[in-house]
Order: sequence, then structure tokens, then C-alpha cells
Amino acid sequence: MRLFLDTANIQEIRDGARLGVISGVTTNPSLAATEGIGDRESYKSAVQEIADIVDGPISVEVVSLDSAGMIDEGREIAEWIPDPWVKIPSTPDGFEAISTLAKDGIKVNQTLCFSVNQALLGAQAGSTVVSPFIGRLDDIGHEGIELVGEIVDVFEKHHIQTQVLAASIRHTLHCTMAAQVGAHIATVPYRVLLQMVQHPLTDAGLDRFISDWKKASGS
Ligand code: E4P
Repeated sequence: MRLFLDTANIQEIRDGARLGVISGVTTNPSLAATEGIGDRESYKSAVQEIADIVDGPISVEVVSLDSAGMIDEGREIAEWIPDPWVKIPSTPDGFEAISTLAKDGIKVNQTLCFSVNQALLGAQAGSTVVSPFIGRLDDIGHEGIELVGEIVDVFEKHHIQTQVLAASIRHTLHCTMAAQVGAHIATVPYRVLLQMVQHPLTDAGLDRFISDWKKASGS
């Protein structure tokens, strides 16, 4: 399972990329707004800066609600960076846009997916990846991780090439479980990435190694 960073914060992306474990970035309009980005030109320049830092797919979301607008935006976004994944929502207009963009050879991250049927529709339309949202399903009392596993199983059973990107990850266990149920990619907030690194026994073990070494070397 590959790991992406789920943020539009340039510093977080720089810091995360330095670990050498990140192979892509996902953004969305809310993440962009958190960074004070609210117009096309600023989104474009932030995305270009992200693409300079991370050598991998960068997901950029459209904000139109109608298929024609999504297609126009998707075609424009596809010119911004070397490896764009255009994020299109799982709506009727979205499926129409996905099928047109996929025919153009543009890679699509089908976002806001909350059911196996939406994932199946996106796959037929030509989504490169589908993003089931774990945390938002948990928020309304469903086990979000189960959806990820169900989509993985159905895609495997039917030899569907669309990959499964576990999104809306809120904590480290989500990431572990996404890997266990076979997600191809998990996109994690920077905070969760840092938590994934941590283990108290690693810290305690390191303290012991260093203090034993200092004692033995008399330093
Ligand atoms: C990523 O592609 C999604 O937009 C993101 O993971 C959503 O996360 P949230 O539900 O925590 O906002």
C-alpha cells in the first residue's frame, strides 16, 4: 500500500516528503481553503509547488457541479503538473465527467465515494482510483473501513483495474486497517503520519542504547 499526504500545506508536504515514505498528495477545496487558497490561480500555483516537492500523483479537485464545468476544469488541471489526478465527485454529472476525461487519457480520482455501487459506476466510467471516505462514514455510525474492504474484494473478483485509495483517515488505526483490507493507497493527514512513526518502546530503546554507549565509552 502506498502512502499519500492529505494536505495542501506546503511545509507539511516538505517535512513529510523528507521522510522518503510519501509517493503522492491529495488536496480538496476544504484543505486548500485552510491554507487561504480560494481562487483558481492560487490553487494552481500551490499545486505546482507541491508537484515540485513530491514526485508522484497530485490530486486536485474540481469545484463545478455540472459535467461540462467539471470537464473544462479537469482538462485545465491536467495541464498544470506532470502527474495530475483530477478529483471528481461520485454524482451523475461526476460519472459523465469521469468517462469523458478518462477517454481523453486524463487520470481521475473519484472522490466522495460512500458505497460499493458508486465505486462500481466510477470504475465503469474509467476512474483511475476511487476514494472511499472512512472517517466520514464512521462519523455517521458506519464502519468506514468495511467499505474499503468490500470495494477491494469486488474489484478483485471482477478483475477491475481501478485502484482503491483509502481517504478521510482520522487516526493511525485507520491506516493499519486500510492496509489489512487491501487498499492500494492510503492518504493520511500529516498529523497521522507523525503518529505512525511514534512508538514509546522505540524511544525508550534508543535512550537505553545511547546511555549504555556513553557509559561504555566514558563520554
Ligand atoms: C482526500 O482525498 C479527501 O478529500 C480527504 O481525505 C477527506 O478527509 P476528511 O473527511 O477528514 O475531510
